[in-house]
Amino acid sequence: MLDRHCHILYGLDDGAADLEESLAMLRAAKAAGVTDIVATPHVLDATFDFSLARERKRELEHYAREIGVALQLGFEVFWYALAEMTPGMVSQCRMGDTDAILIEFNLHAGLPWDMMKGIFSLQQAGLEVVIAHPERYDCVKKDNAIAQEWLDIGCTLQLDANVLLLPVLDSARHCAHAMLKRGMYQYAASDAHSARDYERFARSVELIKRNYEDLAI
Ligand SMILES: [Fe+2]
Repeated sequence: MLDRHCHILYGLDDGAADLEESLAMLRAAKAAGVTDIVATPHVLDATFDFSLARERKRELEHYAREIGVALQLGFEVFWYALAEMTPGMVSQCRMGDTDAILIEFNLHAGLPWDMMKGIFSLQQAGLEVVIAHPERYDCVKKDNAIAQEWLDIGCTLQLDANVLLLPVLDSARHCAHAMLKRGMYQYAASDAHSARDYERFARSVELIKRNYEDLAI
């Protein structure tokens, strides 16, 4: 099983704090049935240290192989960071050896006015634009028509599988189920920030397999 979104590389963002925590996450991922991981640290602005991320990936790869997990490097790129980047930097943000780029927006501030134009320019550069956890944006919770617009212009949508374990009345969980029922997701991932998130992921995956067997994980 491939997990396309997690914060397992230590000391780069709000995920693993140190090597010990990265290793605990690797072991928990393996126990959850994950065999392949794309590590996706947050890129919040253009000062992000890509060479440190590559170094951390190389360091962790050695342990991952011993544990039985293949590790690739990707990124979770905050929308406003893109505007500060050169085309070469944007190209570095691809997920592993694919042409996909994982994008996140501010959860509560509404979507940027120039979003569609920006997405088109990424697509013109040959990138598949993957929208991270659409169910967690306030504007999508209110009306998932915007998620359908993303699909209509060729984006793909990635579920944060662990929202399915939130309380029954949680709006992100409610939105995720509505979108799952409409078959709007192409991917599901853990967005794990800790080993505990991988324990949850094992349960989320079971839930998805039981109820939404068409969704590839
Ligand atoms: Fe994330």
